[in-house]
Amino acid sequence: MTTLAIAANGLRKSYGDKTVLDGVDLTVPEGTIFALLGPNGAGKTTAVKILSTLITADAGDIHIGGHDLTADPQAVRAGIGVTGQFSAVDGLITGEENMLLMADLHHLSKAEGRRSAAELLERFDLTDAAKKPASTYSGGMKRRLDLAMTLVGNPRIIFLDEPTTGLDPRSRHNMWQIIRQLVSDGVTVFLTTQYLEEADELADRIAVLHDGRIAAEGTADELKRLIPGGHIRLRFTDPTAYQSAATALGEVTRHDESLSLQIPSGGSQRELRAILDWLDASGIEADELTVHTPDLDDVFFALTGSAKVPTQPNQPNQSKENVR
Ligand SMILES: Nc1ncnc2c1ncn2[C@@H]1O[C@H](COP(=O)(O)OP(=O)(O)OP(=O)(O)O)[C@@H](O)[C@H]1O
Ligand SMILES: [Mg+2]
Repeated sequence: MTTLAIAANGLRKSYGDKTVLDGVDLTVPEGTIFALLGPNGAGKTTAVKILSTLITADAGDIHIGGHDLTADPQAVRAGIGVTGQFSAVDGLITGEENMLLMADLHHLSKAEGRRSAAELLERFDLTDAAKKPASTYSGGMKRRLDLAMTLVGNPRIIFLDEPTTGLDPRSRHNMWQIIRQLVSDGVTVFLTTQYLEEADELADRIAVLHDGRIAAEGTADELKRLIPGGHIRLRFTDPTAYQSAATALGEVTRHDESLSLQIPSGGSQRELRAILDWLDASGIEADELTVHTPDLDDVFFALTGSAKVPTQPNQPNQSKENVR
C-alpha cells in the first residue's frame, strides 16, 4: 500500500463572498511529484498556503505526513518546507546569512547550521556568491537561494509555488534537475505552475484547478487522452501498400503526398494492437507508425474554457504533436 504524504478532502475557502476553493480533494503519495495547474487567480497559492498551515481553510479534512493539520499544525510544520510564489530572500543580507537565519528558525545548533548552510549553498551552486548581499543576485540565483532555504532542516514534503516562473530555459532545466534529485531522495514535492510543459516534464500526477474545483486529474498522458485530437499515423513508402491500406481502413484521413494515413484514436494499447493485428492480417507493412496525442496546452485550454491563441498565423488551433 502506498503511504500518502498529502491527503486533503473537501477543501473550502472563501474570501468574503468570493469562493476560491469549492470542495477540492487532493492526494499525493510519498516520494512523488504532484503539480497543481490553473490560470491566474484559480486558487493555487491559496491551496499551497492552506496545506502548509500558513492560512486556515473554511472546511476540509487535511493530513500531511500522517498528521492531522487542524489538530496538530506544529507536527505538520516540522516536516514540511515551503517556497512561496514571492521570494522569502532578504536582499539586505548575504545568501549565507539568509541560510543561517533559516537554520536559527529551525533551532539548529550554530555548528549544525553552518554545516547545513555550506552544504546547501554548494549544492545550489551559490558558494561563490554566499558572501554577497542577496539583492545583487540574479532572479535565478534568488530562486535557488529560496529553495536552498526551504531545504534547511531536511523537510520530507516540500511545497513549491511556481518554482520556475521568471527563469530562463537553462535555469528552469537546472531547477527541474534539482527537483528530480529531491524526489529520488524520497522527498514528496507539491508544486504549482503556469507551465504545462513543466507539469508534463516533472509531475507524476497533475490536477487542473478551475472554478474552485479540480476539473481533471491524472498523469500527463491520461489528461491528454481526455480531449479529442489524438490519432495514429501510418506512413508508407510503397504507394501500393498505401492505397490498399487507405481503401481497407475506410475511416481515415488521407495524405496522398506523404503517403500517410491518419486514424482517430486515443492511443490506447488496445487500439494500437487492433491496428497492428489488422495490418498483419492484411499483409500490409507500414514503414512508420506514430501515436499523436494532444499536448497539455490543449487539455488546459479545453478544461479551463479559454480559447487557445494560435501560435502562428494561418495555423489556428494547431496542436503540437508528441511523437512517441
Ligand atoms: N487575502 C486575500 N483576500 C482576498 N482575496 C484573496 C486573498 N488571497 C487571495 N485572494 C483571491 O483568491 C483568488 C485566488 O488567489 P490565488 O493567489 O490562490 O490564485 P493563484 O492560482 O495562485 O493565482 P496566480 O497564478 O496569479 O498566482 C483570487 O481571486 C485572489 O484575488
Ligand atoms: Mg499563485
